[in-house]
Amino acid sequence: QLLTRFNTFGLPARARFLALVDSDQELRRLLLSVTARNLPVLVLGGGSNLVLAADFPGLVLVLRQRGVRVVSSTPAEVVVEAAAGECWHDFVQHTLAQGWYGLENLSLIPGTVGAAPVQNIGAYGVEIKDRFAGLTAIDRETGEYRDFNLADCRFGYRDSFFKQQGKDHWVITRVRFRLDRMSQPQLAYGDIQRQLAHMGIIHPSPVDVAQAVMAIRRSKLPDPAVIGNAGSFFKNPVVTAEKAAWLKSQWPDLVAYAQPVGVKLAAGWLIDQCGWKGKSLGAAGVYEKQALVLVNRGGAKGQDILALAEAIRHSVEERFDVRLEMEPVVVR
Ligand code: EPU
Repeated sequence: QLLTRFNTFGLPARARFLALVDSDQELRRLLLSVTARNLPVLVLGGGSNLVLAADFPGLVLVLRQRGVRVVSSTPAEVVVEAAAGECWHDFVQHTLAQGWYGLENLSLIPGTVGAAPVQNIGAYGVEIKDRFAGLTAIDRETGEYRDFNLADCRFGYRDSFFKQQGKDHWVITRVRFRLDRMSQPQLAYGDIQRQLAHMGIIHPSPVDVAQAVMAIRRSKLPDPAVIGNAGSFFKNPVVTAEKAAWLKSQWPDLVAYAQPVGVKLAAGWLIDQCGWKGKSLGAAGVYEKQALVLVNRGGAKGQDILALAEAIRHSVEERFDVRLEMEPVVVR
């Protein structure tokens, strides 16, 4: 079964078996099936954070369960639950249309609701952990459901329990968010302020913020429906303050942000400085407008993407003595 249309890179790997899953009952039945018990299982949402570098010798489950419901509601806030297969961006726009605020900065992030907690998706100063109110996951071995709260999920920068220890054990089926009825826009990011000013908006509503975020993303990130990609390909590395100070002394334009511990560097800047922006290695390329995004220029295989990633890591390490860590999940 060809997986090309189930991963946003458009990589042509194959799966031995493939099932499209439309309900939690069906998911449970498949997980407990003889096939799933005897073969490896790979669970996909939108396939937007994935590099398929080999064929998958087992069962691929594509989660498509739909549904959004209000769990609780007060005059100040609402807790809303969405099924894993809901499209993330559509869900965010739905919450805004209802007057439920807090996810607007996360507009236009590709992928599904169920995948969002796995890497604690984030953009423009908001991460889903900031709005998280719990999730339900199913145990792959026993088929039992369990609720996870904020602490259980161990969210970090593009990271969670479900990307680490919980990786092959749980499948997320529903995710809950705590949203405000009163608008409290997060406007700290310079890009957002500039875009809103450009749009002539002084007192932005959450819908305005969503519009601004969409405009920024469209201007520098490739649309996976047009050019295969998986968003940022590397995490922004965090180095010690000493290391950052040394780098800054050598490269005064270094883009760096102080963190509670250490300093976060803009990986896109590091890659750009190494001259990779717009370059290609075979059919794998570095996007012209944002060096942190690798793209499929047409006909790339997973191995081509990984070979380019290795070459970039090598350049950055050689020049800055900084190691880049890949963001997507790699199947090899
Ligand atoms: N930069 C360059 N050259 C480049 C790219 C970036 O010099 O080719 C510089 C920019 O000038 C800017 C800085 O690097 O000063 C940061 O760039 P940008 O604002 O585009 O953000 P980013 O750090 O590259 C991160 C997230 C994005 C998220 C944006 C906005 C990671 C790995 N990436 O990108 O998330 O949308 O911030 O919050 O943290 C994703 O995870 O897939 C993703 C797109």
